Amino acid sequence: MRNKTICVVGLGYIGLPTAALLSNRGYKVHGVEIIQSTVDTINHGKIHIVEPGLDTFVRSAVNSGRLEADTLPKESDIFIIAVPTPFYEGFVPNIDFVIDATKSIAPYVKAGNIVILESTSPVGTTEKVAEVLEQNGVDISSIYIAHCPERVLPGQIMQELVANDRIVGGITPEATKVTAAFYKTFVDGEVLQTDAKTAEMAKLTENSFRDTNIAFANELSILCDKFGIDVWELIALANRHPRVNILRPGAGVGGHCIAVDPWFIVHKGGKDAKMIRTAREVNMYKTEWVIEKIKNAALTYEKEHGSEAKIACMGLAFKPNIDDLRESPALYITRRLVSENLDVLAVEPNIHKSDEFTLVDFEQAVNEADIVVFLVSHKEFGNLNTEYKIVLDFCGVNK
Ligand SMILES: NC(=O)c1ccc[n+]([C@@H]2O[C@H](COP(=O)([O-])OP(=O)(O)OC[C@H]3O[C@@H](n4cnc5c(N)ncnc54)[C@H](O)[C@@H]3O)[C@@H](O)[C@H]2O)c1
Repeated sequence: MRNKTICVVGLGYIGLPTAALLSNRGYKVHGVEIIQSTVDTINHGKIHIVEPGLDTFVRSAVNSGRLEADTLPKESDIFIIAVPTPFYEGFVPNIDFVIDATKSIAPYVKAGNIVILESTSPVGTTEKVAEVLEQNGVDISSIYIAHCPERVLPGQIMQELVANDRIVGGITPEATKVTAAFYKTFVDGEVLQTDAKTAEMAKLTENSFRDTNIAFANELSILCDKFGIDVWELIALANRHPRVNILRPGAGVGGHCIAVDPWFIVHKGGKDAKMIRTAREVNMYKTEWVIEKIKNAALTYEKEHGSEAKIACMGLAFKPNIDDLRESPALYITRRLVSENLDVLAVEPNIHKSDEFTLVDFEQAVNEADIVVFLVSHKEFGNLNTEYKIVLDFCGVNK
């Protein structure tokens, strides 16, 4: 198998680590990326994204001559598509990148090849890939087409690419078998075999499961606030039940996976995706609720002190101890407060410079603020001295 050539389409957070890993495992890899500057960076053995360990893999892959990048695909034995799958306005899934990538490889796909879709995709997308290949002149009865969703955690991608179990679902049982055999050449985890639709739904299910469980915690936090109960104490007590494990509430749910993928199910499921839709709505409502709480606190302060409150927004990232701002509720909240002309000090210790905000050091912000709002429980925020401050803690910073 190692003498096979591989074409990886899309060299971002998933495609580049995958391409570099496969090259280091002895495959000859041709990486395709539409952004020319990314192609140039990679061909110099350098990287354009932050991911621990990736630079070493890419450098050694390029130096060995087994990894090259280009803006065009070329004939290969295996094609891996790892392009973005966002949504349009109104949470409608957008698979345009997948379609474009499929069209771009079609002229190079020949009998016996494997085409793998790794992008997180709405149910039916792998069938769509087959359809697009066929429309573009590929005899799909002579190739193997499968979905293999990626489930790595940013920050640990190089380890998890190898260690995690993988799900492989082909559009035919033969495609499943052949594709699974390929993954077994570089994955230490188990390679689980199913059909394409189940593989697509499995990935969406994993993220919807997390979203639904966080929604439960977020709803509890709102109810506890209404009932005058400390939600953190409540959850700690309830979790002493041997079969209860409530997650942590926060300012909402962010990131480009959990806050996005459930919509793929909701869009296709319509009125039958009640709980998954409601979970998304609860988590988005939590963010709006947090904004109202902060605005009310600011109003009360102004009434009592006759001056405008300075509000420290502690954290902008979508989860603790990272710099990732994608779909971040904390960022959304801070933006909204600024747009409504509140006096805001934006704090994000994991980012040095922002084009949008003047970032303030976290200790300085607490000193200067009248109201300290904890939006993300970064490790720097534990045990800060907030005496004489009004504190709104939406993420259980010391819990
Ligand atoms: N990043 C993660 O942690 C993660 C985890 C699991 C699953 N996923 C899924 O993997 C997929 C890719 O995500 P990502 O984080 O790597 O995205 P990304 O934006 O980092 O990278 C995708 C790359 O594809 C390129 N691209 C777009 N269209 C192209 C085309 N037609 N030809 C060549 N290149 C093209 C883009 O320029 C970009 O560099 C998504 O479906 C995502 O949901 C991501």
